[in-house]
Amino acid sequence: MSADLFTPLELRGTELPNRIMVSPMCQYSCEARDGLPTDWHHTHLVSRAVGGAGLVMTEATAVEPRGRISPQDLGIWSDDHADALADITDSIRAQGSVPAIQLAHAGRKASTKRPWEGGDPITGDEGWETIAPSAEPYPHDAGAVPTREMTADDVAAVIDAFRDAAVRAREAGFRVAEIHAAHGYLLHEFLSPVTNHRTDAYGGGFEGRTRLLREIASTVREVWPDDDPLFVRISATDWLPDRDSWTVEDSIRLADDLAPLGVDLMDVSGGGIHPDQRIPSTGPGYQERYARRIKTETESDVAVGAVGGITTPEQADALIRNGRGDLAIVGREHLRDPYFALHAAKQLDRLDDVEVPPQYHRAF
Ligand code: FNR
Repeated sequence: MSADLFTPLELRGTELPNRIMVSPMCQYSCEARDGLPTDWHHTHLVSRAVGGAGLVMTEATAVEPRGRISPQDLGIWSDDHADALADITDSIRAQGSVPAIQLAHAGRKASTKRPWEGGDPITGDEGWETIAPSAEPYPHDAGAVPTREMTADDVAAVIDAFRDAAVRAREAGFRVAEIHAAHGYLLHEFLSPVTNHRTDAYGGGFEGRTRLLREIASTVREVWPDDDPLFVRISATDWLPDRDSWTVEDSIRLADDLAPLGVDLMDVSGGGIHPDQRIPSTGPGYQERYARRIKTETESDVAVGAVGGITTPEQADALIRNGRGDLAIVGREHLRDPYFALHAAKQLDRLDDVEVPPQYHRAF
């Protein structure tokens, strides 16, 4: 029997109760600019677990302070962060959902204001120097933050930061870790020839440009428990077809390289490396075709998650039933409707396959 949206997904020793994941979404809501979660993070994440999603992922959580997009981003660079996040993971698990964390470094896209304050680069005392594979700032209408080319020591320090973050994430109670290598942030900047002009072992051809991500995946896998899944989010394409850029073919090859290193799922997104990108469509399931290509063309058995424009239960269910992906990753629709998964179960006549909180039974 083929799987559908409410068929549990087994990854290693971890079972997701259904195929709906809350996509990582920055909340820009750390009040003291210290990367510590607030009541907002608790409410935001736990209410999506109450809403029935099988997996709830935190926003991009910075492995070092310099890796934050904005000063208000969440972080996991100290034991205090792990302690504070433990309350959230406990509450997510208590709802029968699996808590996941996205481990991130913003690279040259760090040091910006939050979107509702304009999103411009912060160039004064409040901002900081960013690091990237090459000393080229992200082109931004409002100027740019100074960007330094990473030295060999910087590369080693970033690998260490991801490893330490993974250790802390496990102590905090997360059961899935996702390495953020998409959307023009640091690891994507290494992958793409648009942003990586290094001449050392971390630049050049495909092997060199993918080296840092492969090393980080191996390092995280060494400290991440054998029973717990490891995801990697990529931009399947740079959407810059007219120049030497990252392509879907590169993504398929990358999936084949990451699977043997212990990566269990490719979370397939797109774009973000350069403002000149041309997105062919932002309609329903606009990135699904890339997930499907990776799923059908990879030689490994890595699982695939699709994200982008998934807004209806039927669409999410069809994705799984038709074998285009193993996990339906839902972002903005979860902001509109924290109970997306319970609504989906009701609409698809699958309420017997979800845990409706007893307090809400009369509503579903
Ligand atoms: C995002 N997105 C995002 N992606 C990511 O990998 N890490 C992140 O922290 C964020 N932050 C974020 C904040 C907000 C407010 C939005 C709306 C989006 C992208 C998100 O996870 C998702 O990939 C896209 O929104 C596309 O999916 P939907 O929204 O069409 O389901």
